[in-house]
Amino acid sequence: MSLIHVKDIRKVYRVDKERVVALNRINLEIEQGEICCILGTSGSGKSTLLNIMAGLEKPTKGSVLIGKQDIAQMTEKQLALFRQLNIGFIFQSYNLMPTMTAVENVALPLMFKGIARKERNKEAKKMLKRVNLGSRLSHKPTQMSGGQQQRVGIARAFVAKPKIVFADEPTGNLDSKTTTEVMEMIVRMARRYHETLILVTHDQEIAQYADRIIHLVDGNIVSDKPNQSIIAAEPETEKTAVEKNVDLAAEVAK
Ligand SMILES: Nc1ncnc2c1ncn2[C@@H]1O[C@H](COP(=O)(O)OP(=O)(O)O)[C@@H](O)[C@H]1O
Ligand SMILES: [Mg+2]
Repeated sequence: MSLIHVKDIRKVYRVDKERVVALNRINLEIEQGEICCILGTSGSGKSTLLNIMAGLEKPTKGSVLIGKQDIAQMTEKQLALFRQLNIGFIFQSYNLMPTMTAVENVALPLMFKGIARKERNKEAKKMLKRVNLGSRLSHKPTQMSGGQQQRVGIARAFVAKPKIVFADEPTGNLDSKTTTEVMEMIVRMARRYHETLILVTHDQEIAQYADRIIHLVDGNIVSDKPNQSIIAAEPETEKTAVEKNVDLAAEVAK
């Protein structure tokens, strides 16, 4: 059974007397562990589709099954809880809490899972080290660069090991070198925990990180194809001895 099943989704916005068909009739099935890109030009409906799959917006018609649950039927309260337990987000503008340190920001999703403070901080620090921010643990967002803030955002999205991570133009505010770093971290993190990643972008090059590219034009899927990801999926068991040693060296260096 697929993890996400989008069935006949339609979204029509009304602004005064104008109707905007943001999504026409979308059908999709996404498996656990898939790294999927939704690719399209500005205004094609990418964010609307992501928001509906993540339960942030209600569709006009249709259903979104995650596992066996239809999130389109949930109340706002049920949705909030569902998101806290199952979903991680990475935003274009990072959306970190400005008064909180890097550790506090990353620890936040664990609070909703009822994990004790000491354990939360320990996990948050571990995740920040994984995104190479071990030396910025007590920094607040304004004391960090855009790339560093997004790395905090990545650590926060994955810390609670959600079923699905949604990323809407995660590198939209970053330069090209930082974009590569951030994309590699997101994809490696998703692969490491075998998590489903839904990545939204207008950029063909960024789409190349995905295992599957779903092309959206004017609220319709015009193609849906497998893609050879820049960062290949490799089962743990098939790692070469050299790679294992490199991993070991990286762990020891921490
Ligand atoms: N809240 C809204 N109210 C009215 N129209 C909207 C709203 N959000 C998005 N739209 C319209 O829906 C279409 C798709 O928007 P969006 O999903 O944001 O596209 P993308 O993320 O691909 O740039 C656009 O034409 C946009 O103007
Ligand atoms: Mg958008």
